Amino acid sequence: MKPQQQESLNSKKVLIETWGCQMNVADSEQMLGMLKDQNYTLTSELDDADLVLLNTCHIREKARHKVVSRLGKLANLKDKNNLKMKVAVTGCVAQAEGKKLMEAAKNIDVLLGPGKMDQLPELLKKFEKTGNKQIAVGFKDAENKQAAPALKKKSYVNPTITGKSDVSRFINISQGCDNFCTFCVVPFTRGREISLAPEKVISEAKGLVEAGAKEITLLGQNVNSYGLDLVTTESSANTVRGPFVELLSAVSEIDGLERLRFTTSNPHDFTKPLADLFKEQAKLGRYIHLPVQSGSNVVLERMKRKVTAQEYFERIDWLRAAVPDMAISTDLIVGFPGETDAQFEETMQLIERVQFSFVYAFMYSPRRGTAAARFKDQVPKSVMEKRLQALLELQNQNTIRQNLGEIGQTRTVLCHYESNKEKGVYYGRTEHFRLVRIPAEKNLVRQTVQVTITDANKTALVGELLE
Ligand code: SAH
Ligand code: SF4
Ligand code: F3S
Repeated sequence: MKPQQQESLNSKKVLIETWGCQMNVADSEQMLGMLKDQNYTLTSELDDADLVLLNTCHIREKARHKVVSRLGKLANLKDKNNLKMKVAVTGCVAQAEGKKLMEAAKNIDVLLGPGKMDQLPELLKKFEKTGNKQIAVGFKDAENKQAAPALKKKSYVNPTITGKSDVSRFINISQGCDNFCTFCVVPFTRGREISLAPEKVISEAKGLVEAGAKEITLLGQNVNSYGLDLVTTESSANTVRGPFVELLSAVSEIDGLERLRFTTSNPHDFTKPLADLFKEQAKLGRYIHLPVQSGSNVVLERMKRKVTAQEYFERIDWLRAAVPDMAISTDLIVGFPGETDAQFEETMQLIERVQFSFVYAFMYSPRRGTAAARFKDQVPKSVMEKRLQALLELQNQNTIRQNLGEIGQTRTVLCHYESNKEKGVYYGRTEHFRLVRIPAEKNLVRQTVQVTITDANKTALVGELLE
């Protein structure tokens, strides 16, 4: 038998479904890397799958519900079609619900929280050997985190997980969060904030660029506070600019890297030197995601966001002083417990004042264990729905107006992928992170090109290639 045939006979197939934030996307890539070392290859067919891995999100009830209903469907399909698949559940629902989830969904074979992701191959093997269900939850400690395996191999790059192509990659630079905003489950699902040492981030970034990445996004729940847990008095990162700005400066020096993005920024730890870096370092582009959550100081205080609307405006002013046409997006919650009509109006005013390029808006969803879930004055769903609709209408007008304003401009676009519906149509993002559709005769994937914007709608611009 030829070696290739041998390999295909031994190889097992994994189907990975990823919900939630980009951090989960990065985790899925890392788990795929570990599974590849165990001779797994990726499949998108359930019939083929030896293993189905659900990497889950717990941020709102809807996200959690999707996972539970998916598990039910998988159990039915497995029985009906006599499928061979094992089921592993990872991510934030696994951490938050652990044993309870495993008891409720009988088809879970292996369950592990994000902090225990490294144990995936070992627990799978144990399950295969003994038939006993395996569970590992709990957080990483600082030492483990430092030893986390890097995404080092080219073959780990997988467009079906990132959804796009290997031109843009993620690095988790910190785990967890210390902020305990009163609505948020993340500190309970990801634990306390632990930063990856700067040398590790830099070497991982270099590795990804060598493997072909042109854009890197540094990820953390609160990236701006990156490194504060690592700083010692003699540390080189202990400068006026702070460890995160130093890290961004160092990573942006990597040859071959064209764009450096980071998310999620928290306004509380957002500093003026960080805003100023956008002026100095073109690789950072002209876009930032800066979640504010509400325009009302009363609501912000009850959310424990630790910044006022005025402090948020100050940060916007720093950014627009550094880069006048900075595009800014945000996250907003409507119907936080106790939110009055007048307080909601303050959010609408904030939207008008800042002129966001985009907003991600959510109805408040109570999460067990968080402080706000115990607040007495929960807002009725019908009121939340009305507010959300009004907010989205306002923002849609702003987004459309800004997108139409792009017509006639020349923009630089890093092309990510070819449309899977239309051949010869490429998609990429401008320096302002606006999605652009570019028809072209030559393959533009991975290319950075200049385009003139010729048309626009709410979701995307149309670009004509400048030769
Ligand atoms: N670390 C980021 C937020 C991560 S969660 C930050 O601090 O900005 C992403 C977004 O989900 C939040 O910004 C918030 O708008 C939303 N969100 C989080 N918990 C929520 C809840 N319980 N109900 C509704 N939206 C929520
Ligand atoms: Fe959640 Fe707040 Fe931490 Fe963001 S900063 S992850 S909203 S607790
Ligand atoms: Fe969801 Fe966990 Fe990310 S709750 S948003 S997957 S950190």
